[in-house]
Amino acid sequence: MLSPKSFPFIEATLPIIAERISSITPNFYNRLFAAHPELLDGIFSRSNQKNGTQQQALAGSIAVFATYLVKHPGTAPETMLARVAHKHTSLGVAEEQYPIVYKHLFDAIAEDLGDALTPEIADAWTEVYWLMAHALIKIEKGLYAQQANAGIYAPWKLVERAETGVDSVILSFEPADGTPVTVAKPGQFVSVRMPMADGLRQVRQYTLSNDVEHARRTITVKLDVNGEFSPVIHNNLEIGGVIELSNPYGDLVIDNEGSPLVIATAGIGCTPSAAALQTLAAHGSTRKITVLHADQEITTWPLREQMLESIGKLPGATLSTWFERGELPEGLNAQSGYMDLAAALSEDAQVYLCGPLPFMNAVRTQALEAGIPAERIHYEVFGPDVWLAA
Ligand SMILES: Cc1cc2nc3c(=O)[nH]c(=O)nc-3n(C[C@H](O)[C@H](O)[C@H](O)COP(=O)(O)OP(=O)(O)OC[C@H]3O[C@@H](n4cnc5c(N)ncnc54)[C@H](O)[C@@H]3O)c2cc1C
Ligand code: HEM
Repeated sequence: MLSPKSFPFIEATLPIIAERISSITPNFYNRLFAAHPELLDGIFSRSNQKNGTQQQALAGSIAVFATYLVKHPGTAPETMLARVAHKHTSLGVAEEQYPIVYKHLFDAIAEDLGDALTPEIADAWTEVYWLMAHALIKIEKGLYAQQANAGIYAPWKLVERAETGVDSVILSFEPADGTPVTVAKPGQFVSVRMPMADGLRQVRQYTLSNDVEHARRTITVKLDVNGEFSPVIHNNLEIGGVIELSNPYGDLVIDNEGSPLVIATAGIGCTPSAAALQTLAAHGSTRKITVLHADQEITTWPLREQMLESIGKLPGATLSTWFERGELPEGLNAQSGYMDLAAALSEDAQVYLCGPLPFMNAVRTQALEAGIPAERIHYEVFGPDVWLAA
């Protein structure tokens, strides 16, 4: 909780900081990487720096956290903190790094605000930073403690590789050393670390799409022709190749039983859904599950066979599909055009969304308009979460 001394300063300066934070964060990252170039080797994504999404996500998270302190004292944006903590732990962020981020962030704030940053305002925002940092550190410690090993990455060997859809590949890995393996949960992801052509390592997150409860890791990676990492995975990784995988993280986990489930996905966003359906089927779940999937056309749908097989084993599951083009397939309750969620929603539904942001904006709006409260709409963003903060 914010101290009474800081409260009026934060309340008074929140609008200006919220407005300026988007121009402060690029300056912060420039300072951070100038002082610590090693953070660009296997921790931060340089693409997320170039396309601006990481700056946006950081700025948004600070503005949201401070707004909570002022507008909802005694509470915290738990979903957002958990999301950041799961991402941090998958990358091995350590408590000792928080003072480094503090220094460069506050140097950037001081440069941006100039004389307007009085000592009282600086102290008040320092308090906000450390409240948020300590909230994250606490969750992160808990997440690290749940793992079967104390490492961040372990080597895993590629043992199977199969194409799926038109531009995605399913990759299965087995441990390449004796590091104890944490049992994952459906919906969780791993960070994958690999050297790029210039020798610098990059990291990306991939949802476990299959076999989540086994001592192997399977991911399904869509090729992004404008991207850095997925082309390397697609073009350079061969059977027997060893890469680094983190322990599993992420809290978009679906329980085997409970109220009716609506899972709405588009494109490669079906990976958490594919894993969840497979696990629900393996546990003999009788939950009412409405699976909705949208894709460009039937052939572009990744993991289609796996998902159909799982749905076939789940007595409570039904499927509806939407395709933008091509002939509509038989037997998949297929329609042309964009997904319509309304018919799938019941009053007590838990809704899970994953896909491109425009898709999630559209279906989330439909769910809210149908009366589903925001806390029952769960989602995964395949990149820095610029959505939650907005
Ligand atoms: C929790 C989570 C789970 C995920 N699960 C999956 C999954 O199951 N399957 C999957 O395929 N993906 C998944 N992703 C996405 C994945 O992590 C990568 O983001 C994706 O593979 C693209 O990576 P890339 O390196 O190829 O592209 P990046 O290099 O990260 O580029 C991404 C985009 O940034 C832009 N960009 C890149 N470089 C520049 C530049 N120099 N200037 C301007 N813009 C630029 C381009 O528009 C490009 O398309 C997940 C992400 C998260 C966070
Ligand atoms: C209070 C301090 C901090 C805040 C508010 C914060 C906030 C965030 C947010 C909002 C994200 C995006 C999460 C998402 O994917 O949606 C993120 C990612 C990240 N954070 Fe932090 N963070 C903090 C401290 C740190 C520290 C100390 C480090 C260590 C150097 C760090 C390293 C990272 C990295 C590497 C990513 C992923 C970036 C990428 O994928 O490009 N963060 N953080």
